[in-house]
Amino acid sequence: MAGIERIGVSLEKELLGAFDKLIAEKGYQSRSEAIRDLIRQQLNDNRLTNDKAEAVAAVVLVYDHHATAIMERLTELQHSHVLKTISSLHVHLDHHDCLEVIVLRGKVGEINKMGEKLISIKGVKLGRVNLLANEGL
Ligand code: NI
Repeated sequence: MAGIERIGVSLEKELLGAFDKLIAEKGYQSRSEAIRDLIRQQLNDNRLTNDKAEAVAAVVLVYDHHATAIMERLTELQHSHVLKTISSLHVHLDHHDCLEVIVLRGKVGEINKMGEKLISIKGVKLGRVNLLANEGL
C-alpha cells in the first residue's frame, strides 16, 4: 500500500501476551489494526486537550419532559449558539423520560461550554459530552 511504512516494536513477552489477549477479546483481527487504533486514540485525546482544536461531539441527555419549559430551553440553546448543531435525535424512553442526542461541530472549548449549558438545564437528569477530534486522523 502506498504511504504505509512498516515499523518494528520490541516488547516484553508478558506485555505482548497481555496485549494479544486484550485485542482478541475486543475482536481485532490483527495487531497492526489494534496498534493503529491505539495511536489514533492517543492523538485524538491529545488534540482534545486544546480548546481551539476542531471537533465534533455527541451530547447525550436524559431528561424529564414534564420539567418546566425544558424542550423550549433545549431548542432555544441550539438555535442561539454560535456552534453548529448538525443534527439531533429524540427518543421517548418511558412515560417521563426522554433521551436526546445533539451532534455539535466547533472548537473543543465552545463545545464543552455548550455541553455544560445543556446538562445544567433544570430537569436534565443525566448528561455527557462525547468529543472526537475531527482532523488529522
Ligand atoms: Ni420524548
